[in-house]
Amino acid sequence: MQTQILSPSPRQIERAAEALRQGQLVAIPTETVYGLAGNGLDEAAVTQIFAVKERPRFNPLILHLAAGIPLETLQGWLLDLSAFTPVAQERLATLTNTFWPGPLTLVLPKSTLVPDLVSSGLPTVALRVPAHPVAQALLQALQMPLAAPSANRFGRISPTSARAVYAELSGRIPYILDGGPCAVGVESTVLKLSPEGIPTLLRPGGIPLETLEAHLGLRIRLPAESTGSSAHPRESPGQLSSHYAPSKPLLLLPRGIFQLQPADWQQIQSQSLGHARVGILGFSREPEKLLQHLQPHFPAATLHLEVLDPDPSLAASSLFASLRRLDEGAATLLLAEPPPLQQGLGHAMMDRLQRASRPWNPLPP
Ligand code: TXA
Ligand code: MG
Repeated sequence: MQTQILSPSPRQIERAAEALRQGQLVAIPTETVYGLAGNGLDEAAVTQIFAVKERPRFNPLILHLAAGIPLETLQGWLLDLSAFTPVAQERLATLTNTFWPGPLTLVLPKSTLVPDLVSSGLPTVALRVPAHPVAQALLQALQMPLAAPSANRFGRISPTSARAVYAELSGRIPYILDGGPCAVGVESTVLKLSPEGIPTLLRPGGIPLETLEAHLGLRIRLPAESTGSSAHPRESPGQLSSHYAPSKPLLLLPRGIFQLQPADWQQIQSQSLGHARVGILGFSREPEKLLQHLQPHFPAATLHLEVLDPDPSLAASSLFASLRRLDEGAATLLLAEPPPLQQGLGHAMMDRLQRASRPWNPLPP
């Protein structure tokens, strides 16, 4: 199959919409990452999504919706909120009024209309209203929910540009709708709301935890298994401990590059022995200084530096693109500095870097 990249003109958006109506898959831009979209109520289309991504069936999908659908309409359609208490209803309304459209995914009790394949047999479904204008134009034209996981092959780095989707899925899908680089750059925050109104964070993402807590006026639970190592985590099935991984070994440094101690350096040097090209992801506004500081520690290696802004919102939009460049470049070992601020989007970035490095930590000596 030839994969065509479509510009987001009204005609091409209609072409993508027509393909989706016919049960085909289209990669679409969102403000977080690109999604691999198909009709979320059509089992055949959803089956294709799992196949194209090589994604295990136990990992459920998010349904993407057009903006402006009232909660009452969702209740009679995709959701079954009959067990929701008034407090839960009120919190749900606060969340949707404040954060939709935007990078917040809500996990809620599903109606029987949602195929079990979408929810991996769970009694809940994940819903999100993306803020990207091209995604919205498409959803408004379709008037059906789009199931859309990130448009990468399973376990790999999420794509934040049409080119990155092409690198992941070319030959497997007919169209990629090009909406430019993704503004947020990390996936949506996934929040589960119980019928009693208790929120649980299932995945840190585009909306910071602190922001959600401020609007709800309460603390949000973190599930114990969010850092667990189970291959089939139950409460948050998608949160496999290893994920978002480059194909090269990635080592997450124990602290900021300027804070590394002699013992840290000893370990880094022993782990990078034999690597003539080392890729480094760092956070700095002075890349030359960073390079000057690093080079003496790698006397025998060429360093390939990807530098992100220390401001987490600016860094997040480039994180996956930088990781992808390092992965596609000549370096054979990658080192990543932890984000200097782990609040706001720094929390989601740290989560992704931990998961990306997990298959490789600790590296074999
Ligand atoms: O930003 C995003 O959310 C992107 C864009 C394309 O919208 N999509 C995305 O989809 O990241 P995906 O499939 O890569 O991640 C969906 C996450 C997974 O961690 C999955 O386990 C979780 O949502 N999820 C979906 N349905 C769930 C459910 N019923 N209960 C718990 N977690 C669920
Ligand atoms: Mg994903």
